[in-house]
Amino acid sequence: MSEAGPVPVSESPFAPIPAAPPDPILGLTEAFRRDPNPHKVNLGVGVYLDAQGVVPTLHAVRAAEARLLEAAPGKGYLPIDGDPEYNRRVQALLLGENAPVIREGRAVTVQAPGGTGALRVGADFLHRFLPDTTVFLSAPSWENHAALFGTHFRVQTYPYYDPRTHGLDFAGMMEAFVRMPRHSVVVLHACCHNPTGVDLSAAQWVEVLRVCRERALVPFLDFAYQGFAEGIEADAFAVRLFAESGLPCLIANSFSKSFSLYGERVGALTLVAATADEAQRALSQIKRVVRVNYSNPPAHGALVVSLILGDATLRQMWEAELTGMRERIQSLRRDFVQALGAQGVSQDFGFILQQRGMFSYSGLSRETVLQLRQEGLYIVESGRICIAAMNERNLPFIAEAIARHLRSVPC
Ligand code: LMR
Repeated sequence: MSEAGPVPVSESPFAPIPAAPPDPILGLTEAFRRDPNPHKVNLGVGVYLDAQGVVPTLHAVRAAEARLLEAAPGKGYLPIDGDPEYNRRVQALLLGENAPVIREGRAVTVQAPGGTGALRVGADFLHRFLPDTTVFLSAPSWENHAALFGTHFRVQTYPYYDPRTHGLDFAGMMEAFVRMPRHSVVVLHACCHNPTGVDLSAAQWVEVLRVCRERALVPFLDFAYQGFAEGIEADAFAVRLFAESGLPCLIANSFSKSFSLYGERVGALTLVAATADEAQRALSQIKRVVRVNYSNPPAHGALVVSLILGDATLRQMWEAELTGMRERIQSLRRDFVQALGAQGVSQDFGFILQQRGMFSYSGLSRETVLQLRQEGLYIVESGRICIAAMNERNLPFIAEAIARHLRSVPC
């Protein structure tokens, strides 16, 4: 081997590395950015865009950032588990002010870098103590769930979405739950199911909880869209039901969407234990997981969220802005369905009005999705469409392109 220059390919330890496939969601954004088509529209990634087509910086966030700049809190490390005030306020937002589970000390919350970071920390923690368990995901689920849990666990699915009704296959779901081995981890979307937008009713959640208790399952609730279905309190129904039930569970939450703080990576992992002592022991182990992964979380976004949650004026501003985003998505759903109708689409897309959150599981085939991509319309291969990225200007292009394909290729 010569002394300088690249080593021969045969010597490189990286030579056998195969290229990974692009990420099904964020890889689509990469392809979108590369596309020179001036009319292109990205309905792939779950990001809320305002009427101008940009990611809004909420007024509450701007005001909180101005105060933080003034206060100059410094750039030192946060504790391993994050800002204590933030963690307390997040707990109250998720579990309810004065929730018994908080009073009893059975819940511990650790700041995490976004919802994905919270899931990762949760998965690493579970892997230490339940290394041989199976993780069950809804069919379908957010693509990253399988990849994330698959690094540690056997991953299987339970029936969830019924394409014939565009609704929930609750009977199929329950049949699968009663067969799950004890201490299986079951990932549940607390609201605004990603990708389908199909949620459980309150009565169905009660039934799911009953079976989880009976089978001694470990529920892991993914809660990334609080405030995007009906409102902050109503959307927390499942999370609070499970947390108060006495069944130990985990909750990963994200503020990417609800505070429009995507790039700041703000979220948290909450663990609910059987006793306060168990909760503290679990917390000590979760802190070990954090320490070896990223040491301690980034500060800025969490300080912004904490300031807003703890200040009556800022909080009111934020809640109004969140309501604005939710209501605008609901009206975009109506506009989209109307625009498809106006284009002469004969299929009934009324189900889009029933789905909740940012996404619509459109039923478009993979083939149609790939063809649309050639025309500059980016949709996830599953047919998931981000309604929250539509606006008055791009809607005619979107509806026209989809309608043209539906006329030739039925979905
Ligand atoms: C999505 O589902 O599009 C978002 O949650 C963004 C992501 O990380 O995939």
